[in-house]
Amino acid sequence: MPDLGHVPPGWTPPAGRDDFSRRVERVVDETERQQLLSAIRQRHAVRQYTNQPIPEDIRAQLRYAVTTANNASGLAIQVFFDEPDGFSGLMAHYGRFRGVVNYLAMVGTTGTAWDQACGYWGQHIVLLAQTLGLNSCWVGQTYSKSKNQAVVTTDERLRVVVALGYGTVPGKPHKPKPLDKLGEVAGGGPWPSWFRDGVEAASLAPSGLNRQGYTFILDGDQISTRTNPGSYAAIDLGIAKYHFELGAGPTGWHWA
Ligand SMILES: Cc1cc2nc3c(=O)[nH]c(=O)nc-3n(C[C@H](O)[C@H](O)[C@H](O)COP(=O)(O)O)c2cc1C
Repeated sequence: MPDLGHVPPGWTPPAGRDDFSRRVERVVDETERQQLLSAIRQRHAVRQYTNQPIPEDIRAQLRYAVTTANNASGLAIQVFFDEPDGFSGLMAHYGRFRGVVNYLAMVGTTGTAWDQACGYWGQHIVLLAQTLGLNSCWVGQTYSKSKNQAVVTTDERLRVVVALGYGTVPGKPHKPKPLDKLGEVAGGGPWPSWFRDGVEAASLAPSGLNRQGYTFILDGDQISTRTNPGSYAAIDLGIAKYHFELGAGPTGWHWA
């Protein structure tokens, strides 16, 4: 049976669920923040995996993270282990994916806020996976949507998936956009060091086709964002916001 991190029947998202970016209790702890910042630097897209199974204790931690993410966001993320069908077929083959048998199915209702939540909470799980020694790759196109085992209700949609496992290689860094394309200070003032750290962490975030089509704008102690259009723009932004929060640290600023 697949492992479902599904929201139980009758459960309704807590008020303010669209405030996907409120900080996760886990992230505030400084030791853990540093571990996740290391994970940000170590993580690269990995598309080929060995057949080494994920041990039970790591599966349990991933299931827990999925449940935490679903409860906080109202998403219906599901995690599958030892399930080869989701990456069988031509799309995965042409996408050069090999040996993927573990994955997250990012399921939710549609809309920009939900897409951002999908990116934000998906990256929460991706970075945890990296700290546990796993590799990953977000995948919007090159997987088998028809054979995917995700349970999707009529008002939900399988938006993207994330491959997980032990990579044959650790991957390599993508070419990040220059920091001054990803961040700006309103009125053109100097960048505080925490803002630079936040933008730098965001520059290491994965994005569809490595577009990184977002800008973080500092005005006083508020951060707003701007995005370029694109089908993954909101998911990419959610991922980058998770990185930004880790890089900038928990105090001295807030989202606009
Ligand atoms: C929303 C999203 C969708 C993606 N879709 C695909 C995909 O369909 N196929 C693929 O091979 N990689 C896909 N990627 C992975 C990106 O190509 C990759 O993250 C980007 O090139 C940056 O590289 P990095 O992850 O190593 O930092 C996707 C990434 C994101 C965030």
